[in-house]
Amino acid sequence: MEPSVDWFVRARYGLFVHYGLYSLLGRGEWVRNREQIPADDYAALAHQFTAERFDADAIADLAVRAGMRYVCFTTMHHDGFRLYDTQLSNFKSRRDLTGEIVTACRRRGLRVALYHSLNNWHDQPDAVAALEDTSARDQFLANTFARLRELVTRYNPIDVMWYDGWWPFDATGWRATEMNAMIREIQPHILFNGRNGLPGDFATPEGHLTAPRPWRPWEACITHNQSWGYHAGDHDWKRPTEIIDMLARCASGRGNLLLNIGPRGDGSLPEASVKVLTAVGDWLRRGGAEAIFDTDLFQFDPHVRGEHRADWTHHGPLTAKGRNLYWLMRRWPGTECALAGLECRVQRITELCTGQVISFEQRNGRVQLRGLPAVAPDFLCPVLRLECDRPPVLYLTGGMRTPRVPHPHYDPVKPDLLY
Ligand code: GLC
Repeated sequence: MEPSVDWFVRARYGLFVHYGLYSLLGRGEWVRNREQIPADDYAALAHQFTAERFDADAIADLAVRAGMRYVCFTTMHHDGFRLYDTQLSNFKSRRDLTGEIVTACRRRGLRVALYHSLNNWHDQPDAVAALEDTSARDQFLANTFARLRELVTRYNPIDVMWYDGWWPFDATGWRATEMNAMIREIQPHILFNGRNGLPGDFATPEGHLTAPRPWRPWEACITHNQSWGYHAGDHDWKRPTEIIDMLARCASGRGNLLLNIGPRGDGSLPEASVKVLTAVGDWLRRGGAEAIFDTDLFQFDPHVRGEHRADWTHHGPLTAKGRNLYWLMRRWPGTECALAGLECRVQRITELCTGQVISFEQRNGRVQLRGLPAVAPDFLCPVLRLECDRPPVLYLTGGMRTPRVPHPHYDPVKPDLLY
């Protein structure tokens, strides 16, 4: 029996943690490969890896404060350095950091995903040898399987096996069907991402927030600055409002946002990440959560009407749940504005961060809101909940009324837009 993905689809928001030996260098997680650092030089770093400020409880607390439901932790990145105790290698941290994270998350009711790179640059034979020579390949695959088996045996139960680093093989090359079966035999409930070449239980768009079509469970992984692993020179942090925008995109596409932090070499967290993630968590608690979690698929297709239920506005994105429509007012319109194109009756409008009831008048598909506060009632993002008489649908075209003949929605040609 296939395990249930229900919790995952409802989780919506998770914390990705990229931590490893590379964090000491502060030049990103691919540093060993990008700079072709000699094996001995890189291995020598392991003595300095004391993780003295790595605090799994603080990380799990941050995830909770941020309003997240799960944590995905890098047990071993492409550099091959294990953040757990293993019988299979000496290239590992002295502390069982994976165990610390799993325990801290479990205590707080957070789900846990273990990130693990299939390929690694340290162990021999490596992926290059495996590509060149079939007996090396057998050994390489046997080592990979042994690592995975040990990992899911040691940390049982966990919720997601998050594969990565599938260069240079496809599903056949990795014997991915056998790989998943081996792991599911140990942990039948476990979910897989698709990065061992198989589709897996969910898609992992990286760096963008596009829901797969046709829809299936998905999780967009996004960096907080521009780097996964700690980069000392990367100060390009996303603002809380950008994260709210991303959450809204995920909510309307019924996907998850897996937002990354990259602890420093000593394990301490970049202050900007703590600050920004907390600010978004506070907004979720003030009222935002209702518009973000357990929402309906609310598609928008600028090309054809199709199945879509949503549309766009100048003030901010829309999400929906049952008979409620949520309008995330990223740009406050001032004392009045209207929402047009509604194919339902609105019964009541409330601003969720303040609880203020908003007066309105509806004529056909057009709802006129009046007497709005002149200044945005929430400094990050006010949320208007429109309670409707049926699941809301909103449709407008590029014209001033809906044509009575078949027509393109906005764009007669496939637009060059990412949706
Ligand atoms: C990529 C990168 C890696 C990062 C991952 C996150 O595959 O190789 O460094 O960990 O994506 O999704």
